[in-house]
Amino acid sequence: MDTRRTYADHAATTPTDPRVVEAMLPYLTELWGNPSSIYYEAREARKGFDAARRSVAGILGARPNEIIFTSGGTESDNLALRGVAHGARRRGNHIITTEIEHHAVLHTAERLEQEGFRVTYLPVDGEGFVDLEALERALDDETTLVSIMYANNEVGSIQPISDIVRIVKGRDERIAVHTDAVQAAGYLELADLGVDLLSLAGHKVYGPKGSGVLYVRSRTPFLPQALGGSQEKDRRAGTENVAGAVGMARALALVHEERGERIEHVRALRDRLLTELPQRVGGMHITGPTDSARRLANSFSCCFEGVEGEAILLQLDLQGVSASSGSACTTGSLEPSHVLLAMGVRHALARGSLRLTLGHGNTDEDIDRMLDVIPDAVKKLRALAPGRPAKAR
Ligand SMILES: Cc1ncc(COP(=O)(O)O)c(C=O)c1O
Repeated sequence: MDTRRTYADHAATTPTDPRVVEAMLPYLTELWGNPSSIYYEAREARKGFDAARRSVAGILGARPNEIIFTSGGTESDNLALRGVAHGARRRGNHIITTEIEHHAVLHTAERLEQEGFRVTYLPVDGEGFVDLEALERALDDETTLVSIMYANNEVGSIQPISDIVRIVKGRDERIAVHTDAVQAAGYLELADLGVDLLSLAGHKVYGPKGSGVLYVRSRTPFLPQALGGSQEKDRRAGTENVAGAVGMARALALVHEERGERIEHVRALRDRLLTELPQRVGGMHITGPTDSARRLANSFSCCFEGVEGEAILLQLDLQGVSASSGSACTTGSLEPSHVLLAMGVRHALARGSLRLTLGHGNTDEDIDRMLDVIPDAVKKLRALAPGRPAKAR
């Protein structure tokens, strides 16, 4: 039996880079002290933690005290929205976000609505780009926060963050702009975006799970959410995950050094999927941006007529391919992706979605294999579904 596996779900998570593990190990073995204490083990842990903070700040073009280490993307997004919404509440109660955010943002926005905030969800076009005119119209005297993701986790659309910042700040300098850069971090430049807050997750960039960062520009109105000790300059209480922060910093530094090669590698593989897969199976619709410069280099997504995404995934798994139907968070639910629906994809078609997100460990053999097994799986499933149009089989 062929036991090789092809992993094509790097937007869900990435393997931890051995160089990251190596950087973390001392902080799990000898240097395990609580960085807030004053003896040797603690001082050494503090040194590593501070160095990690300086390194992340350097990559973001930020000051070290503008970096808050968190437990991942979800916490960073929650903290950004809740921190600013409540911190700036005296000035206004209106928040703007988009219909295609990750649930870490959307569910937080919904909770804020229950707490009395007003939230505008901006629409997107058929390729997953936010309507900037709708953004201009939505801004009002009560707006305190605009949260728009840098790159989408399902269809890879890259939002023009600098233009968004210009529009928002043109209306009122005081309105904070947050971007969820969790997926963007592996492939896009993070410095000089002009945003006030930015979320990152270590495990999406070959770092450890349970590590994340929220950048908060100095003087941004911000009400801490986790209360307790005075860690992270009173903005996030709790004993620091030193090894996690060290791993996160190392992972980001590696992205920074190797980004060019990584992009070239995954883009060439992804472009094979874009051109060759439609030649091998009918009734297939590529979703997301058509202009590859506006799409994350590792991202491929499509919908197949007449099949359920979940069924394709099970077939692919049996053939040694790990893929996703969209966000890892919605896998298991029978509802089609909110991102595809917001893009105007028909409900029935959106149910047949497939997302392949590549990483630097993927090879041409992985692509050959996917080009073999995906059409087979789709054809097999269509044959099992009576009454489907013959053309789509
Ligand atoms: C765009 C985006 N934001 C936030 C998250 C949540 O990150 P985490 O899994 O680290 O909590 C994800 C995870 O898939 C994501 O893709």
